[in-house]
Amino acid sequence: MKLIYQWMLAFFGVIMTTIIIVGIAFTQYSTRTAYESTWDQLEGYADVIEREAFKQGSQAALSTQFIIDSQQILSQQHVGFNFFNAENEMVYPTPDPKVSVKKQYWKHLKNGQIQRLSLSRDSHQVNNNKQEQLVVFKPVFYNNKLIYVIGVAAPLQTVKSGLTTMRKNLLIAFLLSTIGGILLSYVLARYQIYRINRLRNATHLVAEGDFNVQIKNPGKDELDDLATDFNEMVHSLNESEEEIKRQEDRRRQFMADAAHEMRTPLTTVKGLLEGLQYDAIPEEMRAKSISLMQNETNRLIRLVNENLDYEKIRTNQIKLNPQTFNAVEAIQNIQEQLEKKATEAGDTLILDAQENVPIYADYDRFVQVMFNIMQNAIQFTENGQITVTAEAGFHETILTISDTGIGMTDEQVKNIWERYYKADPSRKNTKYGESGLGLAIVHQLVQLHHGTIEVQSIPEQGTTFTLTFPDETIVTSES
Ligand SMILES: Nc1ncnc2c1ncn2[C@@H]1O[C@H](COP(=O)(O)OP(=O)(O)OP(=O)(O)O)[C@@H](O)[C@H]1O
Ligand SMILES: [Mg+2]
Repeated sequence: MKLIYQWMLAFFGVIMTTIIIVGIAFTQYSTRTAYESTWDQLEGYADVIEREAFKQGSQAALSTQFIIDSQQILSQQHVGFNFFNAENEMVYPTPDPKVSVKKQYWKHLKNGQIQRLSLSRDSHQVNNNKQEQLVVFKPVFYNNKLIYVIGVAAPLQTVKSGLTTMRKNLLIAFLLSTIGGILLSYVLARYQIYRINRLRNATHLVAEGDFNVQIKNPGKDELDDLATDFNEMVHSLNESEEEIKRQEDRRRQFMADAAHEMRTPLTTVKGLLEGLQYDAIPEEMRAKSISLMQNETNRLIRLVNENLDYEKIRTNQIKLNPQTFNAVEAIQNIQEQLEKKATEAGDTLILDAQENVPIYADYDRFVQVMFNIMQNAIQFTENGQITVTAEAGFHETILTISDTGIGMTDEQVKNIWERYYKADPSRKNTKYGESGLGLAIVHQLVQLHHGTIEVQSIPEQGTTFTLTFPDETIVTSES
């Protein structure tokens, strides 16, 4: 069965049950009230008869005239009277000793209890009157002795006709509410189905690859919660889709860059080899050509090795061997190695640090990191100054490498961790490689040490790299 019908049935069921319960309760209550008010009325007549028909002081005297008069007045309403004497024999309207009040009622009457009865057609408590009636029997006492019982009766038909009209109205109301119930349950079910269909359509859109779908919802009930979850799901799908695209772009870019980087030395080598093959290179140039080819092949080997290194670091394939050692000593070693290059570029290399600054890192990898950054500083600074500092921070070692070189724009700074990124591709210095891999590897290595690396740079003024390496307690608690 379709959900809409199931819900309609459920809503309709609830509405109908409510209407039926209310209807039955109301009918019973109004029937009861109609009976009670008729009995009250009859008892009122009995009270008047008692007061007026029995003359005070004369116990047996019954003013039949008053009764006849009253009977006439009330005949319009079909109210009739009966009187029974103390021996339970009818004395009015026609004296007949055979007609009597049923014993079970008489017992109560003798005890002074007024009896309110609804007598059916076949009952013979009151003779000559076979109609269904509402009756009140009231005992009359004189000097604590039962002298008469007054019976006042009205046909049930009068009460019932009022009730029938009411029931008819109730039936109309019932029919109207049924129609209203069907309409209301249809509207409610339709609204819920609309919300479900909205979710369904959105799911279809997502299945077709649209990850920008969002469902509006006021967050009121479980379906709204479902819509919120759906929105979150689409959002994460969208993010992973974008991440996949980004990775794919990066992969494509990487392939293009790697091919480009390798093509240059290969083309050079190929050209030189052809020259040698066809003796197109003069004798005196041959040695230079061979050395050029060696340089280019070295560059290719370095490129391949660095790529492999980067991939290994990225995929956690290298194992660090961290230990605490003096960073200053390590930097002094690098300084010595780079001194020549610095002098060539007209740069002064300054190390500004205490004698002993402990650092927790893999020695070789730390040297690789510092060497790369310091080499870059020399590479991009002419006749300037390169200052390296090292100091102990709170549970970490802080290192800075500042130069007064060409600097970088914000846009360039953002990209320097990317592989093959060169701020200015026209700067080509085969002496130092310049493949654009150095900082990508540095970045990965620092991360592997749970450290941080930041750059501040102003074009034409200089660049500062700031590195932190957490100490042993932090690294061991983190990993
Ligand atoms: N100290 C610096 N001052 C100015 N620019 C810098 C500095 N350090 C790095 N850069 C820029 O960042 C780019 C990336 O540096 P990275 O060390 O990764 O590559 P590279 O030095 O060009 O090549 P290699 O792989 O040989 O190191 C450089 O090409 C340069 O444009
Ligand atoms: Mg470099």
